[in-house]
Amino acid sequence: QKKIKIALLGLGTVGTGVYKLIQRRADVMEHTIGAQLELSRILVHNMNKTREGVDTSLLTDNWKDILQDGEIQIVIEVMGGIEPARTMILEAMNAGKNVVTANKDLVAEYGKELLDTAEENQCDFLFEAAVAGGIPIIRPLKQCLAGNDISAVIGIVNGTTNYILTKMFDEGVSFEEALKKATELGYAEADPTADVEGLDAGRKAAIMASVAFRSRVVFGDVYTEGITGITAEDIHYAKEFDSVIKLLGVARNTEGGIEVGVYPMLLNKEHPLASVRDSFNAVFVHGDAVDDAMFYGRGAGELPTASAVLGDIIDVARNLQYHCTGRISCTCYKALPIKNFDD
Ligand code: NAP
Ligand code: HSE
Repeated sequence: QKKIKIALLGLGTVGTGVYKLIQRRADVMEHTIGAQLELSRILVHNMNKTREGVDTSLLTDNWKDILQDGEIQIVIEVMGGIEPARTMILEAMNAGKNVVTANKDLVAEYGKELLDTAEENQCDFLFEAAVAGGIPIIRPLKQCLAGNDISAVIGIVNGTTNYILTKMFDEGVSFEEALKKATELGYAEADPTADVEGLDAGRKAAIMASVAFRSRVVFGDVYTEGITGITAEDIHYAKEFDSVIKLLGVARNTEGGIEVGVYPMLLNKEHPLASVRDSFNAVFVHGDAVDDAMFYGRGAGELPTASAVLGDIIDVARNLQYHCTGRISCTCYKALPIKNFDD
């Protein structure tokens, strides 16, 4: 039986989920892919950390161990941040390795460079987990809805802030307490400022706009406003109006250009997005053929995010098995006019 060797960069919340899921789904994957997936290396920062249930012989803190191993064909980046993740991914693809990542910071900023490098090297670069955790949204926008002219993608795309807002609304929990709990549950970013100030949602909105509109929107094009200014008084008045407050990512392709923004909005309780609670996310898409479509599910956390990563790994492994790598790398990131949100 053929083996496909993979390496994991990062063994935190998402990395641990990927580790567990690779083991849990080994038999099914072997059947689906027609080859055995072998996790052969795991890159971590701190070799001395206790990691229960992990085969510690796989751990390394030396990237070259992975880069120079010609048998490793798939690299999964779940470390986060721009550097060293960007350099490692570029080096991996330049060495002919395929890459799967959950890193929205990187894709929102350097998506074009990464996709161009994937194309130059005829390898796959997939990032389903970078937006809305476990919800399949990149592939639907890129493939399943490709027959549409998509005019709007609107959604709740940050689990941490949705969790905080839900706790504040339903249980009167303080912002600080709810954020602490979201961090404990593994929803928040290493620096939760990115969540609560709307930056994480802004990165995801930029990625969705790029894919949906076959365009090139970077994080700098996105207007962002978070939830730190929301007071108990705001919540009181929202309730008075039979409404809830949700942090929305809004991307529209208008005649004047593309506009992308993230901001808190008052939604009537009857609105479909109003009932999206806790760390759940939901993305609403409008296309000229499909009309309205909505995607709902867990937007953060260990196994939901690992679910999206594993889907990408299986796609890449299948491509390797059937010799068609490079085929599903994005066709987006062609420059279209970007309209500043406040124009
Ligand atoms: P995390 O829990 O902080 O884990 C990060 C992991 O990367 C740790 O294992 C850390 O090693 C390792 N690492 C960091 N810098 C490194 C370096 N320079 N060299 C080697 N290893 C390094 O992060 P996470 O929550 O799993 O998130 C990972 C990525 O997934 C991020 O891009 C995040 O935005 C994205 N994401 C997260 C979620 C979620 O729900 N958490 C959902 C979707 C996407 P040590 O263990 O040794 O410290
Ligand atoms: N911090 C992110 C969130 C993780 O809360 O949505 C998932 O991307």
